[in-house]
Amino acid sequence: MIPLPRQYTPLEGTLDLTALPFTGPPAIAELLAELGFPVAGEWIADNTFGEEAYWLRADQSGLKVRGRLSGLRWAVQTLRSGTASAWQSCEIHDAPRYSWRGSLLDVARWHLPIEFLHRYVDLMALHKLNRLHLHLTDDQGWRFEVKRYPRLTTVGGFRRESMRGHYYNFAFDGTPHGGFYTQHELKNLVAYAKRRGVEIMPEIDLPGHTQAAIAAYPQIGFENVEVSTMWGIHDQVLNTKDATVEFIKHVLDEVVEVFPFEYVHLGGDEVRSLQWQHSPAAQARADSVGDLLGWWIGTLATHLASHGRKTAVWDELLDADPPEGLLFFGWRDVTRAPAARAAGYDAVSCPHEHCYFDWSEGFRPGEPTAINGFVPLERVYRFEPGEVTGVQGQLWTEYLPTPALVEYRAFPRLAALAEVGWSQAPKDFAGFKDRLRAHLSLLDSLNVNYRPVD
Ligand code: ACM
Repeated sequence: MIPLPRQYTPLEGTLDLTALPFTGPPAIAELLAELGFPVAGEWIADNTFGEEAYWLRADQSGLKVRGRLSGLRWAVQTLRSGTASAWQSCEIHDAPRYSWRGSLLDVARWHLPIEFLHRYVDLMALHKLNRLHLHLTDDQGWRFEVKRYPRLTTVGGFRRESMRGHYYNFAFDGTPHGGFYTQHELKNLVAYAKRRGVEIMPEIDLPGHTQAAIAAYPQIGFENVEVSTMWGIHDQVLNTKDATVEFIKHVLDEVVEVFPFEYVHLGGDEVRSLQWQHSPAAQARADSVGDLLGWWIGTLATHLASHGRKTAVWDELLDADPPEGLLFFGWRDVTRAPAARAAGYDAVSCPHEHCYFDWSEGFRPGEPTAINGFVPLERVYRFEPGEVTGVQGQLWTEYLPTPALVEYRAFPRLAALAEVGWSQAPKDFAGFKDRLRAHLSLLDSLNVNYRPVD
């Protein structure tokens, strides 16, 4: 099983889990039906269990499962890793190591079909990953419908062309690309994810990574620009006018309507300050408020708090006089999440050395283009995050224009990260690879386009 349960005891014999009567909470009956997974048994919601923990016993007397609803859902996923009609009798005590077990999916660089987002959530749940970080906006596209500002998607959601091959070749495909998600589609996705125990954290990346928004509404930036056709870090940033702050607050008012999760991610990564340095108005703002990145995030965090929401950011904020109460995402290296913790913040560890799955997994002939390399499976598996809120794998999609390529980069590394996030067991890479063989058969049955193991 992947991720490895906390305690697994095999018992004598096998059992047909489909041949039993079902008793249990309607939410579990609905989940089983929706998954088309014909398992029955006796399921009891028991709030004396910890969040996401469960106990399961399958023996000659039948299947019994106990836990909070959040734990019963993971028991469903555990049962999916075996053969329902011939399940090995066993007893399992299980609970996660970390409360945040995330996957970032960048749908800004390429608009991935909404149907794929449903499938991706399902694959996350299969691995007991519980947080989808949906990167909805960037220089190359704005994918979140905002009713008050329709040009964000009708203009900001489309670009003239895209880069072909690696960035450093400086070649273009000459083909327009675009698309966006309606609020209705995203609400359906949120509900679909919730039924599986997955919460969705939206990211509206700012004040950098905003060229698509500025292309749609030039008054929030410094220049007239088009939606970017290039990968890489851009100079465009939001200006510091009161009207721009109001504009973004209006955007966030619609974001929190669609996404009920307690956190909204506001980005804050890779902000170039060139345009601010050359703007007397921005300099005047800095004279009164101090660090402009910290001011942007602090102002919007206060606004999100008025909606009862908390703010998540990338680790650059640590150097930007950050407000209290942020959730940090330490990406630049393994020291960043611990540094945020030491400064009194909650932090998710997602360093590129272990967690950037847009990086190549290894070299082999015919390997698709990747932004960088390498992040091998073993390096993911051996990640030791320490005392943090959790872990997260990143799938930036500059070089992943299709669902098939996303799956190729995600798996099997996401399975290794799921185990880092869930399991407390001592590291045993050979044992993991053994279990991975059976797990890949499960992924085969779901037609997942994983990268074959080296
Ligand atoms: C990042 O990779 N810019 C967070």
